[in-house]
Amino acid sequence: MDKTKRKAIIAGNWKMNKTPSEAKALLEAVVPAVKDADCEVIACVPFVDLSVALETTKGSNVKIGAENCHWAESGAFTGEISALMLKEMGVEYVVLGHSERRQYFGETDETVNKRTKAALAAGLKPIVCVGELLWERECDITEEVIARQIKLDLFNVTADELKNIVIAYEPVWAIGTGKTASPEQAQEIHAFIRSIVANKYGKEIADNTSILYGGSCKPSNAKELFANPDVDGGLIGGAALKVADFKGIIDAFIFSSPSRIAATLISMCRSGDIFIHTGITLAETLLSFILVLTAGILLAILLWASDTVSGILEPYLVILNSLPKSALAPVLIVWLGNNPKTIIVTAISIA
Ligand code: PGA
Repeated sequence: MDKTKRKAIIAGNWKMNKTPSEAKALLEAVVPAVKDADCEVIACVPFVDLSVALETTKGSNVKIGAENCHWAESGAFTGEISALMLKEMGVEYVVLGHSERRQYFGETDETVNKRTKAALAAGLKPIVCVGELLWERECDITEEVIARQIKLDLFNVTADELKNIVIAYEPVWAIGTGKTASPEQAQEIHAFIRSIVANKYGKEIADNTSILYGGSCKPSNAKELFANPDVDGGLIGGAALKVADFKGIIDAFIFSSPSRIAATLISMCRSGDIFIHTGITLAETLLSFILVLTAGILLAILLWASDTVSGILEPYLVILNSLPKSALAPVLIVWLGNNPKTIIVTAISIA
């Protein structure tokens, strides 16, 4: 399954941070910084910040989420907020079952399931969080814990409803601790989550479900984490509160794999960004692209049999990864084939 077909998401989880005026200031800086992101960008903010967050992000590509909701439509639940209330405000996402809710506020899989059902019924998109405690990992029961959480949290959720659910894997020992799951650990559990979803809903639905990684994700480790085939983005805590870090994570995401870079370029073509940067017409761009593609295919055939392919590619990849996104606009990339003979021909500026 090509992971670029799944929705790629970077969601900030602000937790109990930022007053409404601080939220406004932060989002005013985030909106222009992430406007080119080729993934869905979400800011999940405290209830009292929702109104200003919706206002500040209006017309931008930043979506707004809440950090929890109650399962009842209304009633005697002092201090709680219903999914319907959020929906009416214009909120799109809601984080549910975050480990801090489970740890400090008595949230259980049963209540996470009830909230998930209520959020879906109200038309919200739940970001359902699962993850093991440190001692559960040490006892080697990580998979058992995750399987139980997924099964219980998604109890009675239909296949159709699952399309509106995002799953976040957040190893509890990595949240806010500075410790991150290694890319291998993250991939292992993400693939496991996808297999649980596949068992229940079928492979196609599992292949289309976005699974985010959360837990001390930062610009310096994001790229490796997101390069994994089953990691579709991140749920970002601390780093979402700093514009440069949040943007750095989004940029790392864009450069996390050749297919992601290609997807970015394609979306830039579609949005017209490439033409703005290069000042050339669509016909000229297409012609250049065909020429580059032909040259690339010829080159690829020549290189195909060569064992030095990876050596040849190395400098290209290094240069590519060090370029800011805007500098990539006039560069066309042709990605051919798969491992072990993946050949990337980065070609010429068409400016
Ligand atoms: P962190 O939090 O990035 O600060 O570790 C992640 C989360 O709790 O969603």
